[in-house]
Amino acid sequence: MPLPKAELHLHIEGTLEPELAFALAARNSVLLPYRDTEELRRAYLFDDLRSFLDLYYALMAVLVTEDDFAELADAYLTRAAAQGVRHAEIFFDPQAHTERGVPIGTVIEGLARALDASEERHGISTRLIMCFLRDLSAESAMETLEAAKPHLHRITAVGLDSAEVGNPPSKFREVYAAAGALGLRKVAHAGEEGPASYVREALDILGVERIDHGLRCMEDGELVARLVRERVPLTLCPLSNLRLRVIATLEEHPLARMMDAGLLCTVNSDDPAYFGGYVGDTFHAVREALGLGEERLRELARNSFTASFLDDDEERRAKLIAEVDAYDFGVRRPE
Ligand code: HPA
Ligand code: ZN
Repeated sequence: MPLPKAELHLHIEGTLEPELAFALAARNSVLLPYRDTEELRRAYLFDDLRSFLDLYYALMAVLVTEDDFAELADAYLTRAAAQGVRHAEIFFDPQAHTERGVPIGTVIEGLARALDASEERHGISTRLIMCFLRDLSAESAMETLEAAKPHLHRITAVGLDSAEVGNPPSKFREVYAAAGALGLRKVAHAGEEGPASYVREALDILGVERIDHGLRCMEDGELVARLVRERVPLTLCPLSNLRLRVIATLEEHPLARMMDAGLLCTVNSDDPAYFGGYVGDTFHAVREALGLGEERLRELARNSFTASFLDDDEERRAKLIAEVDAYDFGVRRPE
């Protein structure tokens, strides 16, 4: 039995496996510029975030109907359940779909259909986080928030993703204020490729509760002290950092040093179809590369529930943390 855990940094479009991409392409008569799944997989060699995003957005052309989004999410939840995920907070990128003519309602209602069935079907409670693409304009983000209004009961939080450098959090001050006024919670990618100052901006200007990635905070001792003091969770994605060359080898990932510094770290998969593993695989990889002991793994799993938006179901949070505390590592591959 795998260690129970929450996944807090997962782009649903990043779970599109080549097999499903080709199946959806055939169903929707979309021509992909790859002969087969093998040729597509061979394209998964990235130099940086931008080179990944180009392929990530291009492949989304196969996602057209509500059924497609429901199928994508259910496929992820099936895989996640097998790796011990008991709670998932799932990002989606509405503008990547509305920009190519797919209505936001199709995206949200399709995903929601799979998420609504998740607890019963997979034992995974879920939340949905709507991300703004930071390389598009602030006006486009505001229009997206407006368009999402009929579906807000489906959405727990807003997030900020896509190409970070040159698109600081401050660009999205107004839309985050508007989202907060609507009762949405707030997270943002910051300090992945961008500098530590973007982490500060996300906290001070956007008022986020959690930082996605955030590993470059380690370049700023005062910021680290603040993140520790304020118990701001960081949703780290070590395999993503490796594949997007934020780090050269997994052994040099700062996760262990960050935990030693007292930061509230979680481990997540980001875009598992592209980066070589789901969250259980990621736990396994960091355990091997960084030599994390059982108590460190238990701490990461506990943190994932502590940092989750389960505030409206404290009973479930307590139950899941108790499962982590009682977990018996007396098996060979506990991830
Ligand atoms: N960073 C920024 N934007 C993203 C990512 C990421 O790792 N994955 C999908 N969109
Ligand atoms: Zn991400």
